Amino acid sequence: MKILGFASDFEGLLCRTHKNDIWLFHISMQGALLMLFVPCFHHKPQCSLVHCCKLHRVLYWCRTDLWQSCKASGSIHYSQLFTFSLTVKMERLMLAVQYNAYDGGANALQHVEVPIPSPNKDEILIKMEAASINPLDWKIQKRILWPILPAKFPYIPCMDVAGEVMEVGRGVTKFKVGDKVVGLMSPFSGGGLAEFAVIKESVTASRPPEISASECAGLPIAGITALQALSQTIGIKLDGSGERKNILVTAASGGVGHYAVQLAKLGNTHVTATCGARNIEFVKSLGADEVIDYKTAEGAALKSPSGKKYDAVIHCANEFPWSIFETNLSMNGKVVDLSPTLGSVMNFALKKLTFPKKQLVPLLLLPKGGDLQYLVDLVKQGKIRTVIDSKYPITKAKDAWARCIDGHATGKIIFDFH
Ligand SMILES: NC(=O)c1ccc[n+]([C@@H]2O[C@H](COP(=O)([O-])OP(=O)(O)OC[C@H]3O[C@@H](n4cnc5c(N)ncnc54)[C@H](OP(=O)(O)O)[C@@H]3O)[C@@H](O)[C@H]2O)c1
Repeated sequence: MKILGFASDFEGLLCRTHKNDIWLFHISMQGALLMLFVPCFHHKPQCSLVHCCKLHRVLYWCRTDLWQSCKASGSIHYSQLFTFSLTVKMERLMLAVQYNAYDGGANALQHVEVPIPSPNKDEILIKMEAASINPLDWKIQKRILWPILPAKFPYIPCMDVAGEVMEVGRGVTKFKVGDKVVGLMSPFSGGGLAEFAVIKESVTASRPPEISASECAGLPIAGITALQALSQTIGIKLDGSGERKNILVTAASGGVGHYAVQLAKLGNTHVTATCGARNIEFVKSLGADEVIDYKTAEGAALKSPSGKKYDAVIHCANEFPWSIFETNLSMNGKVVDLSPTLGSVMNFALKKLTFPKKQLVPLLLLPKGGDLQYLVDLVKQGKIRTVIDSKYPITKAKDAWARCIDGHATGKIIFDFH
C-alpha cells in the first residue's frame, strides 16, 4: 500500500492499495489506523488531500510518533492496520453565510465554514444550485419576529432553495438521490445561504429539467404568497371559471407582485397594478390591464384609470391608510395585507366583530408543497414566469442583501451556486 500524502491538520494518510483504491487513514491516539472516507474517495482518486482535509475534520488527537515514522518511510504495511472503524466522529464542512446577532444589515453577514447538516427522517439534504432572498430574510435580522426568530444565533438566513438531492431521510418516499428539487425551508432552521441545505419533504417540489434552478428558486415564498392571496383568500379560480373580479396589485414589479399579476390573469379578472414609472411597460408585459405610477397623485390615491372599484387588493407595498383603500373598494371588497402590523390586525378583528363588508385581511403564507408544485407546473406550462432582477454568487451575499433591503428589485434577487 503506497502512501500518497499526509494530512497534517489531523495526521492522516492518503494511500493507494494494491487494488488501486484510494483510502484515507487516520492514526488514532492509541496508534490504531482508522479507515476513513472510503465511499468518498473510492472513485475519486483525483481528489487532493488538501481538498479532503477541508471537507472533513476528525475530532481526534493523534499519536504523532507513528505518523512521523510512516511519513519518514513513505509506506505502510497491512500489519499496521490494527483496526478499522467507520464510527469515527467526523464533520463534513461547507461554506455558508451567517449572522451572529440582530441588526447590522449586510455588513453583519459573515462567510464561514460549518458542518453539512444531516437530514432527519422526513427531510432531504440538497446540494444547492440556487436560492432567493425575500424581504422577510432581512426583516428577521431587523427583529420583526423578535424574540421568536431567529430561534438561535448564529443564524444562516434564506429559505427559498433549489438543488439536487444528495441524501434522503428514512421516511422520505417522494424523492431520491439525484432528483432536482425546489423547496421552502423553515424560518426556524433557516439555512438557505449555504452550499448544502436540509428541507422537509412536505414543502419540496420536483423541478423539471426544462426549468432552471434560478427560476424555481424564486417561487417558494413570493409565489406561494401570491397564490394563497388570490386563490384561497380572494377565491379567484385560476382556470378562469369564476365570476369576473377587479383586482388591484400594489408593488406589482416586486417579487410577490409580479407573480400576483400573472396568476390573477389566469383567472377571470381585470387587473390594475401600481409600480414605479420605469416598470410600467414591464408590468403591462406581465398581463396587467391598467398600470399606475405610484409616485403620481393617482398612484397615491390608488385610483383605477378606468374608474373601476376593486373587489380585492393584493397589497404588496408598504402601509397605506385604510381610508384610501375604503373609497376604492367595491361593496364586498377585501384588502389582503401582506405586511400586517398590530394596527392592521386590530382593524381586521374589529371589522370581523362588527361585520362590515369591506375588510382588511392579514395574510401569512402557509408552507405547502402542493402549492409549490402547482406553481412549478405553471412555469413548466409557460403560464407564469420568474423574472430575475439580479443574480449573485454566495461570495457576494452582502451585495444581494443590500439590494433586497433597498426595496427596488424588479422581480426576484437570486443566489447562483454554480
Ligand atoms: N405575509 C407574508 O406571508 C408575506 C410573504 C411574502 C412577502 N411579504 C411581504 O410583501 C411585501 C412585498 O414583498 P416582495 O418580495 O414583493 O418585495 P420586493 O420584491 O422587495 O418589492 C420591491 C418592488 O416594490 C416596488 N415598490 C416599493 N414601494 C412601492 C409602492 N409604494 N408602490 C408601488 N410599488 C412599490 C419597487 O418599485 P420601485 O423600485 O419602483 O420603487 C420594487 O420593484 C414585503 O413587505 C414582504 O415582507 C409577506
